[in-house]
Amino acid sequence: PLVSMKEMLEKGKENGYAVGQFNLNNMEYAQAILQAAEEEKSPVILGVSEGAGKYMDGFKVVVSMVKALMEEYGTTVPVAIHLDHGSSFEACAKAIQAGFTSVMIDASSQPLDDNIQLTSKVVELAHIHGVSVEAELGRVGGQEDDIIVEDAEAAYAIPAECERLVNETNVDCFAPALGSVHGPYKGEPNLGFDRMEEVMNLTNIPLVLHGGTGIPTKDIKRAISLGSAKINVNTESQIAQANKVREILNDKPDLYDPRKYLGPSRDAIKETVIGKMREFGSSKQA
Ligand code: G3H
Ligand code: ZN
Repeated sequence: PLVSMKEMLEKGKENGYAVGQFNLNNMEYAQAILQAAEEEKSPVILGVSEGAGKYMDGFKVVVSMVKALMEEYGTTVPVAIHLDHGSSFEACAKAIQAGFTSVMIDASSQPLDDNIQLTSKVVELAHIHGVSVEAELGRVGGQEDDIIVEDAEAAYAIPAECERLVNETNVDCFAPALGSVHGPYKGEPNLGFDRMEEVMNLTNIPLVLHGGTGIPTKDIKRAISLGSAKINVNTESQIAQANKVREILNDKPDLYDPRKYLGPSRDAIKETVIGKMREFGSSKQA
């Protein structure tokens, strides 16, 4: 069923696993991720950025497609459709109106008081509709869609500010930027685990780890043990898909039927997602 993230994340935090957010880029992603979740018996979060939403011709198209696939597959596991890095109240409202079950309001580029005010406004609307809300403090580095954060601008969240934001907004989960990066890492990631522990103790709600691509398993496990109950993955699925398409088209330069290269690359996405679900410990939890 389509549900908000609230319950699945609280269960994950309680039982020491994380639910993956896997981003959608087109229909093959929705197919691959929903199939993976059902096979693994894992709860799942389908992440949709504003850019990806536009690419798929709008949030309503995304919701209709996901609902139709779930009906077709007879999906039994909990599925959330979540706006990833929502940039404004209007974007969140649009997603909620279209049937998203969860939204992120990312006001992390704004001063703390403005972030709190905007996040509260989104929470107020979302909770009326049973929709969960994620907020962010500090700045995740790297690039996702049109959101580019230079190394110098990437910032670690300050624990006391995290406590204030969570207490004053009533968000359902919270993403403190602690050194993770969107897209591939340059060298080993350097996550601020001490601060993560502090933020966990001060906020006591499920934490979110962005930039899940390229984080070593030991760091994933440590983040989960420090309250991270949601881990976002996008780039790794994209790389798996692109590699497969490249391999097939290189092998067979005369091939033109999209089903013959997008089909196998869909399986590559699915394999990637299954691997993450096992690593995050969410398999067999639905
Ligand atoms: O919000 C989406 C994620 O944080 C994805 O990060 O593309 O590095 O896996 P990633
Ligand atoms: Zn992110």
